[in-house]
Amino acid sequence: MSIAVITGSSGLIGSESASFFNHQGFEIVGIDNDMRRLFFGDDASNGRNHERLSKTLKSYTHYPVDIRDEQSIFRIFAKHGSNISAVIHTAAQPSHDWAMKEPFTDFSINALGTLILLEATRKYCQDATFIFTSSNKVYGDFPNHLKFVERETRWELDPENRWAKWGFDEQVPIDQSKHTLFGASKVSADVLVQEYGHTFGMKTVVFRGGCLTGPAHSGALQHGFLSYLIKCALNEVPYQILGYKGKQVRDNVHSYDLANAFWQFHLNPKCGEVYNIGGSRAINCSILEAITMIQNILRRSMIYSLSEDHRSGDHIWWVTDVSKFQRDYPKWKYRYGLSEIIQEMIDHP
Ligand SMILES: NC(=O)c1ccc[n+]([C@@H]2O[C@H](COP(=O)([O-])OP(=O)(O)OC[C@H]3O[C@@H](n4cnc5c(N)ncnc54)[C@H](O)[C@@H]3O)[C@@H](O)[C@H]2O)c1
Repeated sequence: MSIAVITGSSGLIGSESASFFNHQGFEIVGIDNDMRRLFFGDDASNGRNHERLSKTLKSYTHYPVDIRDEQSIFRIFAKHGSNISAVIHTAAQPSHDWAMKEPFTDFSINALGTLILLEATRKYCQDATFIFTSSNKVYGDFPNHLKFVERETRWELDPENRWAKWGFDEQVPIDQSKHTLFGASKVSADVLVQEYGHTFGMKTVVFRGGCLTGPAHSGALQHGFLSYLIKCALNEVPYQILGYKGKQVRDNVHSYDLANAFWQFHLNPKCGEVYNIGGSRAINCSILEAITMIQNILRRSMIYSLSEDHRSGDHIWWVTDVSKFQRDYPKWKYRYGLSEIIQEMIDHP
């Protein structure tokens, strides 16, 4: 049986990928030490996802190991060797704010941890596909310097802008903008993953995600906006919108659709490839629009306030142009639209 090694296997994307690849007949080796609890507190722990995978997957082995622990990671890869045909690397420190508190921890997990996994793959299973979840934050705050027009419930990119119609493609520059420390550690990992494709001919791919979401998201104040917003709505906890009048726009892609993108790549891999991935023009909303949708479903008002200060590194408008991925992998289609995503998260909090 082929093995998929999944780092961050208890996380939103890791747990969905574990279910998806297991369903395709893979034995799953999960690596996750629940650092998310340390980053964001008990409420944000991914322990529930770990329990679910252990109970429901046919063949699931879990290692509560830190990806920075080179010896343990190499031992795991040595044990399974060339039976590993996919490595899905989703473990990360995912927050701008947290990275400022502990830059060294952020960089060592996001950049050094990725290098350790690339080396383990090169040494023990060089033919495996190596799938990495990067971030649209590698583009820094470049998009915020473009011209926007204000609409009633959202910002829109100036219709004359080359990216207005379909959203941001992979041509957005990554230099000369503010990335935050989190963005910088992700850039380092992103470029390393590409380089292992170019230098060693490995089947590596970078997926630069916008907002990734789904019912397995343990949303926290600093990470996972839609999940945290719904959590606040369900528990009647006040939600504070940070800046941009609540009109900042994000596209959202369901974790299932992302895991399916990983699968399509695995079936027909390339070397050192880069794709922007997200909900595109099909699935996006501003925070105000998301609040309206949630209120309509719950049939009650949310308690929220607007602060003038925006979060460091926050995009005013981000919609992903996924056409490069769609061109290369025409079988990939969205299964979840925005209302299905929100309804499912309300039904399975
Ligand atoms: N969720 C989003 O909106 C979003 C957007 C863009 C990019 N991404 C990227 O996608 C990936 C997955 O995101 P997610 O939302 O599933 O995050 P998540 O926090 O739900 O999952 C990540 C998992 O990695 C684990 N982890 C963290 N540090 C670790 C370490 N040192 N050793 C072992 N395990 C560790 C955590 O415990 C957690 O369970 C990350 O790389 C993230 O940067 C996420």
